[in-house]
Amino acid sequence: MQINIAKKAAADKAATFIEPGMTVGLGTGSTAYYVIMRIGEMVKEGLEIRAVATSVESEQLAKAQGITIVPFAAISGIDIDIDGADETDIQLRLIKGGGGALLREKIIAAAAGRMIVIADESKLVSQLGKFPLPVEIIPFAHELTMHQLEKLKVAPVLRTREGQLFITDNGNYIADCHIGEIAAPEKLHAQLNDIPGVVENGLFIGLASTLIIGTDAGEVRIYG
Ligand code: A5P
Repeated sequence: MQINIAKKAAADKAATFIEPGMTVGLGTGSTAYYVIMRIGEMVKEGLEIRAVATSVESEQLAKAQGITIVPFAAISGIDIDIDGADETDIQLRLIKGGGGALLREKIIAAAAGRMIVIADESKLVSQLGKFPLPVEIIPFAHELTMHQLEKLKVAPVLRTREGQLFITDNGNYIADCHIGEIAAPEKLHAQLNDIPGVVENGLFIGLASTLIIGTDAGEVRIYG
């Protein structure tokens, strides 16, 4: 695999915020991959931490790197959560869920004392919305939920993979909403989550406290 220098730079920088004894939330996606790999190296060098994962995929990767994954019953909180984003603005409002893990990602981010977002420069936008907003919906009567989304004029499309409906780790569907520029993310967040059948949407507002942007030159810029 060819290394993505920008993603790796952001991930390596984020890993420096981890301290011994911390409980760490592990994100999902191609940028989070690098932070899990870096934490795996740190563990092999003697760092003692425990972790929780935002997806089955990340949990398996972490375990393969020797990172201790603990059950939620064994922890009282999460010190730091490190995750990628599909889009972020300068106010650290995010769109997440391109990989379909938004619900677990949001639960972990909300429980974490600090959420660090890692991304390459392409993810930093002046206004959110070019990336279709993922909305997780339950399968029961999903046709009706889709009608409700259509009424909001968010142009929802049920996500498929290899010709089949995409199923999240939680057994739900994803409606990708092709909105274009989102003028009022906070309002849209509330409108979406008000629809019965919507479990959660991919707008992360007020959750991220630090944003680390990696560049193709291997440098980083830190916001927040
Ligand atoms: C997973 O569902 C997503 O929220 C990812 O965190 C997001 O899509 C970023 O992924 P990449 O780092 O692969 O772009």
